[in-house]
Amino acid sequence: MALINEHFLKLQNNYLFSDIAKKVNSFKVTHPKDKIIRMGIGDVTLPVAPAVIEAMHKAVEEMASKETFHGYGPEQGYPFLIDAIIKNDYVSRGIYLEPGEVFISDGAKSDCGNIGDILRHDNSIGVTDPVYPVYIDSNVMSGRAGTIEDGKWSDVVYIPCTEANNFVPDLPSRRVDIIYLCYPNNPTGTTLSKSELKKWVNYALANDCLIMYDSAYEAYIQDPDIPHSIYEIKGAKKVAIEFRSFSKTAGFTGIRCGYTVVPKELNGFTLAGERVSLNKLWNRRQCTKFNGTSYITQRGAEAVYSPEGKEQIQKTIDYYMTNAKIMHESLTACGLKVYGGVNAPYLWIKCPDGLSSWKFFDKLLYEVNIVGTPGVGFGPSGEGYLRLTAFGDRDDTLEAMARLKKWLL
Ligand code: MLT
Repeated sequence: MALINEHFLKLQNNYLFSDIAKKVNSFKVTHPKDKIIRMGIGDVTLPVAPAVIEAMHKAVEEMASKETFHGYGPEQGYPFLIDAIIKNDYVSRGIYLEPGEVFISDGAKSDCGNIGDILRHDNSIGVTDPVYPVYIDSNVMSGRAGTIEDGKWSDVVYIPCTEANNFVPDLPSRRVDIIYLCYPNNPTGTTLSKSELKKWVNYALANDCLIMYDSAYEAYIQDPDIPHSIYEIKGAKKVAIEFRSFSKTAGFTGIRCGYTVVPKELNGFTLAGERVSLNKLWNRRQCTKFNGTSYITQRGAEAVYSPEGKEQIQKTIDYYMTNAKIMHESLTACGLKVYGGVNAPYLWIKCPDGLSSWKFFDKLLYEVNIVGTPGVGFGPSGEGYLRLTAFGDRDDTLEAMARLKKWLL
């Protein structure tokens, strides 16, 4: 008899975005003629940059000949990509990493979920609220979250980010072992200044706490004073793991590539108090459970850092951020309260007339055929908000804003 991991039974039936997809599909069945504009899941819409496509074609050709064929690659990723990442994403910001500290993967979502493999089941967890559901659900699966009561997991410390604190999280009310931070934030689109991030690094240093820092949206930062990496803060290598993704930076949502930085200075502890390198544990985990990201994909990701790649990718990011600006201005002109969307591709909207998140979601879908993401799906402090993404096509974005103006004004 195979016994199951019963923690899975505690999860809500569906992952948030699957739930939304179901609702949208049933709307489509009953309203086949209505044109839906999707601003829900943060999926990109512009094609992959020509420099990346060219590099991937070349890599495919290499696979066709015996001399240049690639079989299994290093589980940690190819040195050509790791070197490009270190040089372009870190050294350029005064951060020095060793190649052995960067692990290439198939994306930040997998790594954020899998990282729990190297940590004990009874660590205490803190999350900013609202939060990207993967951090919570993956901890539920491994038994760290407790049970759900009134929309909150009993063993998770929630740190509310609301209008009241201008979406800047306070330090947790009780000590936690592991804290998840995502900046620029998904879902609120807000950011942390260097001094605010420093507060967290100092807290972690003082409390032997591990920070999981998800900076998947760093490429969207416009303000030069906002940190792109937690390692811009002194001491962070001793306390933080950083997750990055090519999904939103370079349109890799369908190609799949990301990376995780686990500094060699970073330690966890045995129950007896002995320090253990998390880098060694993650390396061991990856070598056993992961056979590396495909060569073709990694050659594509390398091209993101070529001069042409950088230029092309910047144009795409500017396109989405122009969408965000259009959306911010239009939604504000409609009398809505809007947050984020300035250094991030997400806009966090206060639902009008005190509507709940799901009620506003339904009204948007049924009355103006626009799909958003209900804020409460990201946690209790998301109730009363709705998230829209700026990753849409320009014409669709303009049309959605025109529909909203007509509907709300
Ligand atoms: C989102 O919409 O929050 C993201 O697309 C989800 C993800 O990156 O997995």
